[in-house]
Amino acid sequence: MRLVVIANRLPVTVKSLDPVKFERSPGGLVSGIETFIKKARISDWVWMGWGGSNLRKKDVQKIKELLLNKHRCLPAYVPEKIMNKFYNGFCNRTLWPLFHSMPTLATYEKSTWESYIEVNRIFLKTLLENLEVGKETQIWIHDYHLMLLPGMLREVHPEAKIGFFLHIPFPPPEIYAQFPWRREILEGLLGADLIGFHTYEYTINFLRSLSRILGIEHSMGELVYLDRLLKVDTFPMGIDFELFNSIKGVSKKTKAIKQALGNKKIVFSVDRLDYTKGIYNRLLAFEDFLRRREDWRGKVVLILNVVPSREGVEQYQSMKRQIEEKVAQINGTFGSVEWVPVLYHYKSLSVEDLVAHYKASDVLLVTPIKDGMNLIAKEFVASRRDLRGVLVLSEFAGSSRELGEALVVNPNSVEELSKAIELALEMPPEEQESRLRIMQDRLKRYDVLKWGSEFLETLKGIASKRDTLKTK
Ligand code: F6P
Repeated sequence: MRLVVIANRLPVTVKSLDPVKFERSPGGLVSGIETFIKKARISDWVWMGWGGSNLRKKDVQKIKELLLNKHRCLPAYVPEKIMNKFYNGFCNRTLWPLFHSMPTLATYEKSTWESYIEVNRIFLKTLLENLEVGKETQIWIHDYHLMLLPGMLREVHPEAKIGFFLHIPFPPPEIYAQFPWRREILEGLLGADLIGFHTYEYTINFLRSLSRILGIEHSMGELVYLDRLLKVDTFPMGIDFELFNSIKGVSKKTKAIKQALGNKKIVFSVDRLDYTKGIYNRLLAFEDFLRRREDWRGKVVLILNVVPSREGVEQYQSMKRQIEEKVAQINGTFGSVEWVPVLYHYKSLSVEDLVAHYKASDVLLVTPIKDGMNLIAKEFVASRRDLRGVLVLSEFAGSSRELGEALVVNPNSVEELSKAIELALEMPPEEQESRLRIMQDRLKRYDVLKWGSEFLETLKGIASKRDTLKTK
């Protein structure tokens, strides 16, 4: 069976045209699905996505051939102006805050909604012009950028096998109902045979929204829409456990980090710059901890690595300023010639550097206000083969459903977070070990291969059930 993956980002994008150069795309979605394809040994696959801002219309044909032959990637060309309204506008100023249950940050503009429809149509057209959608093809559409595509494709290909997976939360119906285009998005999603979410909570939120807005009821996640059977279910995305657990060649880097910081304990934090990630609260908590526990001053360092993201959206720019001011304030208040309490880095890290930081740390802070899954928490746990280190994890990260042995906190409470930092730094080694051991066992069992395989198996099952019911 052929697999067609469709996502906003391709695993590689055009870096330059003269000479033609490609570069790897960032993000957990890309690396997760790529790893799944490799691990599942899927031989017949192709990935369709946006060609990137360097792709010009006149070069599409040439680049398409190169990308398809070399990387199995089919680029969709989207004019820059539309892409800007689509990505910086509807996706990241409307859907992102709304779906993360921060409706006061969401803006509703008709023109960006129109760009959303247009980009979904461009994706459909690119797909139909370049690939065959036959009985032996599974189409797997990903994430909030493409929620109209399943419905658009269903209209053209009623028999297609279409799966959709959402990588961000689905909000409770009370919040979703505020959305002006709530019907259109639900109807778009219902074009799929299988709609998957990271957690049971998001699945239920979606099913309750269907009932409230479209009056559609389900039985054990199965429902009928326009005479067609489809399924809604939960598939928590896993990681490549083996890779993080047995990565080679990072011990030098790990040692170097530890040595550079003397004998100090290391608290580590790494996120894309995003207001959903709770970076500011994390700083407030570290500040509170240093204020309360004078004895820890000079003995602990917070490495705060912030990965640049969505720099075209105003809210992200102001968040950056806020974080940088707070870092300066903490260092100014508590620091000295011998000790800088917060080491702030604004850059992305290679996998090797990331794992070296995981391994060098005593504590990892993953404290988002809301997060679909958060794979960083899982990667940290997997990388601690030495069974040392403590994970402080927000209860509002999807991964907290699987990582209950972490120190689970409410990130809105600075006091709770500050207390958790203290507990984590002072946790006895035996306790660190027993908590990590249980979490590692779980992550090993449900890794990214299991996640993808279960999704595609379920898609196959529901599509054939749908066909059987139709012929009866
Ligand atoms: O978590 C949702 C998500 O879209 C991921 O799929 C992706 O890795 C991340 O956010 C970064 O998003 P962007 O493509 O906007 O950089």
